Amino acid sequence: MHRPRQQNQLLFTADSRHHMFKLQQTMIHYLIYLTLPLLAFSLPSHDLIGPRTRPTPFLVHSRSEAGDIDYWNTPRPDTFLSKRSDVHSVEYFTNPPSSIEGDFRRHDSSPASPLLNLGKHTKRATAGQWENMSGSGLYHPAVTSWGSNRQDVYYTHRDRKCRHKYYRGGSSPWIPDWDDLGGSLDSAPSCCSRRSGYMHLFCKGTDYQIWHRPYSGGGWGQWQPMGGNCKHYPSSCSWGGRHASVYTSSSDNQLWGVRYDENSGWGSWQNMGGSLAGAPKSVTWGEGHTGVVVRGTDGQAWVTQMMNGNTWGSWTNLGGSLESEPSAVAWNGNMTVAVGGTDGAVWMRTYTNSTGNWGSWMNMGGDVRPGTPPDVVAWGNQMEVYYTGRDGAMYRKKANNGQWTTSWENMGGSVTTKPSGLAWDNGKVDVYGMGSDGSTRRCY
Ligand SMILES: *[C@@H]1O[C@H](CO)[C@@H](O)[C@H](O)[C@H]1NC(C)=O
Ligand SMILES: *[C@@H]1O[C@H](CO)[C@@H](O)[C@H](O)[C@H]1NC(C)=O
Ligand SMILES: *[C@@H]1O[C@H](CO)[C@@H](O)[C@H](O)[C@H]1NC(C)=O
Repeated sequence: MHRPRQQNQLLFTADSRHHMFKLQQTMIHYLIYLTLPLLAFSLPSHDLIGPRTRPTPFLVHSRSEAGDIDYWNTPRPDTFLSKRSDVHSVEYFTNPPSSIEGDFRRHDSSPASPLLNLGKHTKRATAGQWENMSGSGLYHPAVTSWGSNRQDVYYTHRDRKCRHKYYRGGSSPWIPDWDDLGGSLDSAPSCCSRRSGYMHLFCKGTDYQIWHRPYSGGGWGQWQPMGGNCKHYPSSCSWGGRHASVYTSSSDNQLWGVRYDENSGWGSWQNMGGSLAGAPKSVTWGEGHTGVVVRGTDGQAWVTQMMNGNTWGSWTNLGGSLESEPSAVAWNGNMTVAVGGTDGAVWMRTYTNSTGNWGSWMNMGGDVRPGTPPDVVAWGNQMEVYYTGRDGAMYRKKANNGQWTTSWENMGGSVTTKPSGLAWDNGKVDVYGMGSDGSTRRCY
């Protein structure tokens, strides 16, 4: 990898290790005294995703020569859609298009006219509709979006360099060829966008450091070594505007994170303790909030949250029996965790910010391919969860206002990695995976 001249001072410090040793002791205390009775999932509950309290938006459909466009009528409050790890662009969602020409039709999101009835106009991933994007990759692809007509996909090529393609709309929406972004990657990439035109790409390098490559002002900066000693692929997220952060499990099995601010640049590594057996998953629902969910070395789900932009809460044990690393999505002040259980089923659990409580585990069923966690995406009052089946097909369940479809929809495809879902552009969902031939596949 190309190393810039000044090496960032991001090595873990003895001071923070001492601090985290104390936190880890606290965690062991929790483990022993509080969580032993929680060795299994509790009984499923089916009403975890409640109705929303934000102003009721309605979807407007515009038909013009340029094609069909859907958008939301109301400027959304900050907490809606924009500030989540998988939507990625604050700017687009807080500044929706001011005028779109065409033949408008209104769809209220009332029970009489639920959004799900919009069918193709919601442009969710469609069963059987797969695109072979070719390529020759090693791990699951990573995907982000900074606005209505932009989607960026990354994968680690067999030569260990990062490949990148982006969607720009128009008559030939994808750039034709994969871009070689270089690097020396030892993991799947992770990327996030803090606002339109800004992206941060991360990976675990073959030297076990985190490497970072920024995109801004229409071009890529150099790869930068960030220090660290990571074990699995990193997870990055942005709560918007000036902020981005990346989290990794280190050789000490603990969670470490480092954070970027447009004004002050990169901070120093912070140790959050814990005892991780796999890659962490970080999400944010807005300014100052980040939640990180991990599979502990005890096989259970653990979560830590930062609510005020500063201090991390202690680890909360969510129980469960995880077969692989967890996935999560933050939405409207809540956070939903989706995991593949050792029983092969998908299990989900939701945190409600207003009460500070976690609901109980919900057994979604399914037959998850071992080693591939499910992925969950959300927007508005909609949520979707995807998993890769033992048979290589992808499967989906959808929730409208907390009401889950009862059976898994076979999306087809032929993938061997976990799904990488993307909710973008107000009601579109694309889901990616990698085929056994290393090609990146997109269901749209
Ligand atoms: C999620 O958020 C909404 C709105 O803030 C709230 O009413 C609901 O109870 C939350 N939790 C769940 C599990 O839906
Ligand atoms: C996907 O596309 C690549 C390149 O065009 C091709 O070599 C490969 O056979 C395709 N895979 C499938 C399963 O169609
Ligand atoms: C989360 O809850 C806290 C405390 O009740 C509140 O101050 C904050 O605004 C909430 N955040 C969201 C996004 O709902």
